[in-house]
Amino acid sequence: MKKIMILDTTLRDGEQAPGNSMHVYEKLEMAKNLRKLGVNIIEAGFASASPDDFESVKEIADQIQGCTICTLSRCLREDIDLSFEALKNAQNKRIHLFLATSPLHLQYKLQMTEEECLQRIDESVRYAKTLFDDIQFSCEDATRTDIAFLKRATKTAIDAGATVINIPDTVGYTFPNEMYTMIRTLKEAFPETCFSVHCHNDLGMAVANTLAAIEGGVSQIDCTVNGIGERAGNTALEEVVMALKTRAEHYQAETDIVLKQIFPVSQALTAITGIKNAPTKPIVGKNAFMHEAGIHQHGVLANRQTYEIIDPTELGIVKNELVLGKHSGKHALVDYLESLDIKLTDEEVNGLFAEFKDLADKKKKITYKDIMYLLSHRHNVKYTRKYSIYSYSIMTVKGNSAFATVKLNTENGVKAAESIGDGPLDAAFKTINRILGKDFHLLDWQSTAVTEGEDALGMTTLRLACDGKEVTGRGASTDTVEASIMAYVNACNKLV
Ligand code: KIV
Ligand code: ZN
Repeated sequence: MKKIMILDTTLRDGEQAPGNSMHVYEKLEMAKNLRKLGVNIIEAGFASASPDDFESVKEIADQIQGCTICTLSRCLREDIDLSFEALKNAQNKRIHLFLATSPLHLQYKLQMTEEECLQRIDESVRYAKTLFDDIQFSCEDATRTDIAFLKRATKTAIDAGATVINIPDTVGYTFPNEMYTMIRTLKEAFPETCFSVHCHNDLGMAVANTLAAIEGGVSQIDCTVNGIGERAGNTALEEVVMALKTRAEHYQAETDIVLKQIFPVSQALTAITGIKNAPTKPIVGKNAFMHEAGIHQHGVLANRQTYEIIDPTELGIVKNELVLGKHSGKHALVDYLESLDIKLTDEEVNGLFAEFKDLADKKKKITYKDIMYLLSHRHNVKYTRKYSIYSYSIMTVKGNSAFATVKLNTENGVKAAESIGDGPLDAAFKTINRILGKDFHLLDWQSTAVTEGEDALGMTTLRLACDGKEVTGRGASTDTVEASIMAYVNACNKLV
């Protein structure tokens, strides 16, 4: 079996996509998840893109051990220096330099000749080599680059010290047979070099192209959890890993991914960004293992393999059954977490238990999904203590404006205000803006049930903007108005 290294770019290419931007601590939380998932390299961000990006890469480099931490970097000295600064404390660090090589990009984006492009690759990889041992070089838009020039760019990067050459299908343009031929040709020309592939999904072919590149000879692939990324996204990690596993006899390749973490990590990302997978999404979608047609149900009952090629329990998918109740104690909670392989510190257990008790008072029956929600929400609460809801009251009458009074706990005691609005949430949100003296702007709002039934926990996810920054706020309650106000206050905490 050939080992395929996984570079996960959820926190860089994935985070670049609209609606996916994450706060520093959310990125750190996600990086911890990626570590558990067993990815070999975490592309933690683009350190020189902004001070926030720098801080995220640094935080992850400082705290996450046991895998390589990488940052994207333009071929510029100042970017390379900042990348080094951000990754200074990483146990294993990698810089990922990129420069476009296609005629279209050279002419219109970079206004460079091919010779100037080669010179820039040479200079920047050489400079990076004075600071880094591990250098990945990407020929951006490689799949629309003439193969002869691609070989020259590759040779220049290798000669200057690059250790991995990445071939991005930047605009998701290529087909699997073309990808296979391109990688084969490069591998034949540079047999000792470690090649990688980075595919976008514009024509729905990212996973197929990545698999073709593996057949062609790459030993590393770039992917993201749930396939998030620019435009139509990147190669979905869970899909490519399960294709390799399910058709191992064909690919003869394996990864270090811990299969049992696939579903929990996919859920963790959804909880952080608030962006749900399509129900039909392979491997992690809600319907991926549901059988509706009677004939299918009958087949699965007789032998699961009639209609299932993957055992969902292998992916860490757990049935949403009743697990705990109002009278369950701390031991029962700890035992249940242990049965799921989840280990928390005493302090974390105490915090979780308090929230569990609150919820059990309202809900009586606590299911697996409720516990998962409380866990994913834990870090959210931990980092946003500045403002919290003290009380609120909202009056709404059909055909009239709504009227809200909100009181918030702040560092300077309880502060109150009132406002009218188009509806109960508009009134409450305007009131909170008034208390905090800020013009927070609501970009998106969605509310869904975490669990089934009349007393289901409703989760609100919203996007809030202020002063050019955008964050996600989350709140959950058995009362949707309360969940929305909690989400709004959560987002305000992140923005201030
Ligand atoms: O899509 C792309 O070309 C990229 C590179 C920077 C690797 O994301
Ligand atoms: Zn990309």
